[in-house]
Amino acid sequence: MKQTGTYTARSFDLHGLRGISDRTLDTHFKLYEGYVKETNRLMQLLRDFLKDGKVDQEEMPAYSELKRRMGFESNGMVLHEYYFDNLMRGGSDRSPDHSPFREAAEDSFGSFELWKADFVGVGKMRGVGWAVCYLHPTMGQLANHWITLHEVGNVTGFVPLLVMDAWEHAFILDYKPSERGEYIDAFFSNVNWGTVNQRLISSPAHHAAQHT
Ligand SMILES: [Fe+2]
Repeated sequence: MKQTGTYTARSFDLHGLRGISDRTLDTHFKLYEGYVKETNRLMQLLRDFLKDGKVDQEEMPAYSELKRRMGFESNGMVLHEYYFDNLMRGGSDRSPDHSPFREAAEDSFGSFELWKADFVGVGKMRGVGWAVCYLHPTMGQLANHWITLHEVGNVTGFVPLLVMDAWEHAFILDYKPSERGEYIDAFFSNVNWGTVNQRLISSPAHHAAQHT
């Protein structure tokens, strides 16, 4: 039988960011590759359970644990891809005036600054996880959410527009644990708003909101 679906780790050309060192990035890319590898490994182990066409009752505890880990590893993989993709050398800390993201932030929060204050607030939440600015799948509204670890707090159907890693490994080589605010400032100075705006305008929810 054909075995389908293994993921390939992507490479990202990000060296030379402001405030996020190449050493941090290299460590981070290795961690990301680990998520891809582990996702592939878990998928193979889970496929093995189905060799007899079903999941047997006595297999259920092991199967359940692997499935649970699958949520962690695969979200870890995908969130890192969003994160690296929304950074760039020569990025900037604000989406240009009249850009679709600026207008969506103004519609949803009153101003870009209020949207950003809310996003930064999410990014400073205690614990490890992710700050994500999402687009509601049908209403076109923006909402900032906190994802704990990689898998708790993802909102079904919401479209990630801007993703920020708030695990300490994202900044601990460059900043102290208490300096997450400095890391967030560095993150914002490198945002690729072209990517963020492209994610927004390519979403059907954005088009639906434009016509209501
Ligand atoms: Fe990370």
